[in-house]
Amino acid sequence: MNIAIVGTGYVGLVSGTCFAETGVNVTCVDVDAQKIERLKNGEIPIYEPGLDQLVLKNVKAGRLKFTTDLASILNEQEIVFSAVGTPPDEDGSADLKYVLQVAKTIGENLNRYLVVVTKSTVPVGTAKKVRQTIEAELKKRGVDIPFDVASNPEFLKEGNAIKDFMSPDRVVVGVESEKAKKALTKLYKPFLINNFRVIFMDIPSAEMTKYAANSMLATRISFMNDIANLCERVGADVNMVRAGIGSDTRIGRKFLYAGCGYGGSCFPKDVKALIKTADQNGYSMEVLKAVERVNEKQKSVLFDKLQKAYQGEDLKGKTIAMWGLSFKPETDDMRESTALVMIDKLLAAGCRIRVYDPIAMDECRRRIGDKVTYCRDMYDAVLDADALLLLTEWKEFRLPTWGVIKKAMHRPLVIDGRNIFDVEELDENGFEYHCIGK
Ligand code: UDX
Repeated sequence: MNIAIVGTGYVGLVSGTCFAETGVNVTCVDVDAQKIERLKNGEIPIYEPGLDQLVLKNVKAGRLKFTTDLASILNEQEIVFSAVGTPPDEDGSADLKYVLQVAKTIGENLNRYLVVVTKSTVPVGTAKKVRQTIEAELKKRGVDIPFDVASNPEFLKEGNAIKDFMSPDRVVVGVESEKAKKALTKLYKPFLINNFRVIFMDIPSAEMTKYAANSMLATRISFMNDIANLCERVGADVNMVRAGIGSDTRIGRKFLYAGCGYGGSCFPKDVKALIKTADQNGYSMEVLKAVERVNEKQKSVLFDKLQKAYQGEDLKGKTIAMWGLSFKPETDDMRESTALVMIDKLLAAGCRIRVYDPIAMDECRRRIGDKVTYCRDMYDAVLDADALLLLTEWKEFRLPTWGVIKKAMHRPLVIDGRNIFDVEELDENGFEYHCIGK
């Protein structure tokens, strides 16, 4: 079976590599010639545990190829996936220019039946636009070549992408014909293990499923952050509350962790886009608007706690240590990360900032340059610090040697944005400790 994946970003590269792993011949396509050259040499442009070995293995086996030229390989394929970016427009709606550019190239060059699948997260109605774009090009050429469009949203998480792709909870596929359903059933057959299933549905429902899933997860997080903020005010402990409610199987244990806000490439963008889709259709998503507002506020919660600890004293000239820059562990991705909001706030207050992250230091430098001090390690970051802020729950931050940190810090104040430290241990070591929701 031959398939192509257009777009070698997170979703495209992981999907292409994982399909190749099942024996399918995969060609990954990208307009970025430099990126394609690097990939051909086995250089992976993103940090994702295990991905580099899997790419190399499948390239060596001859099942995974890279090209910049979709037109030249198009008519050898049974299925073409589009996994190009859909950045948010200024107004929050997803920008479809890359998705429709791929459709145009397909229309300009198609010579035989093809299933065109959109994997990027796109608003309801996009598959229809893809169909219209391809049809318009075929018409210009005066040819009538049959094709199908389909929607196959991706649910993988950064940092766990390969495992998520190889053993998914479910795969959602929106189709409009039996022929397309058959082709996609064949492609996903190797994944038919355990409780895994492909859920076929109509295309608009598949497109909607992705937004609804991410919005539901974001809602859980904002809800728990709201509960946490209230817990602090009434003397309750959000960790206890989480354990208490999570054991109700109707609620479930996952995605109930209060913290200093959600970030990343998906939740903020998808919540915005769904609100926008509703607005465009004469409906207002009141819950999601609140989810977004709560998250914006939550990204400043560590700053508020810092101010409170200093009881209104001017923070100008204070040295603040920050552990963690990426929006979550096991990734160098800083899109919409709380660290960026905190850096802005601390700089505006006149603080000096010493940062450390196991992977995201280069990414931070690329984004904000030398506005902060990049430290050798987590212990270097706390040197002379007036407070330590924990933003990302990397494993290596979980069991620090507090004695060393206490000696290095100017004031032993720890503000934990992910609730990973032990109150008693910090207390025993003479720290003032604040966390989220207790
Ligand atoms: C998310 C979805 O989980 C995935 O299915 C979809 O395909 C893409 O978007 P991702 O953005 O990679 O994946 O990260 P995820 O692990 O979901 O975390 C998102 C954010 O939520 C992080 O900032 C994380 O710190 C935060 N989070 C997560 C919480 O604050 N509390 C939680 O309980 C879980």
